[in-house]
Amino acid sequence: MNFNIAVIPGDGIGPEVVDESIKVLSKIGEKYNHNFEFEFLQAGGCAIDSLGTPLPDKTLEVCKKSDAVLLGAVGGPKWDDPNAKVRPEQALLGLRGGLNLYCNLRPALLYKALKEASPLKDTIIGDGIDICVVRELTGGIYFGERGREVVDGVVSAYDTERYNIKEIERIVRIGFDTAMKRNKKLTSVDKANILESSRLWRSVVEEMSKDYPEVEVNHLYIDNASMQLVKDPRQFDVIVTSNMFGDILSDEASMITGSIGMLPSASLGEGTLGMYEPIHGSAPDIAGKGIANPLATILSTAMMLRYSFNLEDEAKDIENAVVKVLEEGYRTGDIKSEGTTLVGTKEMGDLVVERI
Ligand code: IPM
Ligand code: MG
Repeated sequence: MNFNIAVIPGDGIGPEVVDESIKVLSKIGEKYNHNFEFEFLQAGGCAIDSLGTPLPDKTLEVCKKSDAVLLGAVGGPKWDDPNAKVRPEQALLGLRGGLNLYCNLRPALLYKALKEASPLKDTIIGDGIDICVVRELTGGIYFGERGREVVDGVVSAYDTERYNIKEIERIVRIGFDTAMKRNKKLTSVDKANILESSRLWRSVVEEMSKDYPEVEVNHLYIDNASMQLVKDPRQFDVIVTSNMFGDILSDEASMITGSIGMLPSASLGEGTLGMYEPIHGSAPDIAGKGIANPLATILSTAMMLRYSFNLEDEAKDIENAVVKVLEEGYRTGDIKSEGTTLVGTKEMGDLVVERI
């Protein structure tokens, strides 16, 4: 089969980790007789530098027509001036919003071989951590009205958390559907003791739970949820939450499973078009050194094969290859522990390719 993939390497370590993922996809193409066409596009800080805009029209247009988008990372200290009119992150929000990718799946899995890399005690980790964060991605405070104004001679700034019931329903439904495919437990995270938008969110979850009698549902406030995640992560199966809370909880979930360098993500909408990216950022401190962990991006391509191309065997092949490499003791610096072999970005990519 033929698939057109829009590739946005972006900034920092983005290009390095994307290169390895393309090697992996090409190997899959060879082995299973698929033809992956890659079209390279600019977005983020590099696009600001060369074209004056974080998200050139052409990039969004090509992404819309593609079968899937592979993204490395955007941003970096060079473009971090808080007063700047254009910021690399606008590219991400522009892509998410422009492609209507309202659902962000962030699976946080603790690989057995990486137990050592988790900061949590063995007694807490037990037989492993396996959580899927379902994050709303095109609404809430990320997309609400914001601005600055002078009130009574004092400068003030505001951002708005706003959700309509349709936006909540479509993401909560995915939360329930995801739970049905897993261990049938759904935790909805909100701040309903304070926020009106959270109270609406909670009522939607309650109402929809009637359609899913098999799913065990509970509600946690975000402060409690972030505590429970380190205290007893095994209580979680699927977490469904807003854009902002999902951003925070998914970073925390990644850390307890060893490294932010391991976590993939899929951003999905109504159709099969999806955007696939590691949840880590551009890591400017290690960019260009060839030491970044490419596994999160490689695992994101597995999600691409699964969710956009419906190629489950091929997706599993990549995931199994990653497990093998880890079990054989190969590690990038972020997940290195005693007695394992340190490898760089390219070697890690090669090791995965060899095991496919
Ligand atoms: C993420 C990132 C982005 C977000 C940033 C880079 C805008 O942290 O994908 O989690 O906040 O969504
Ligand atoms: Mg984040």
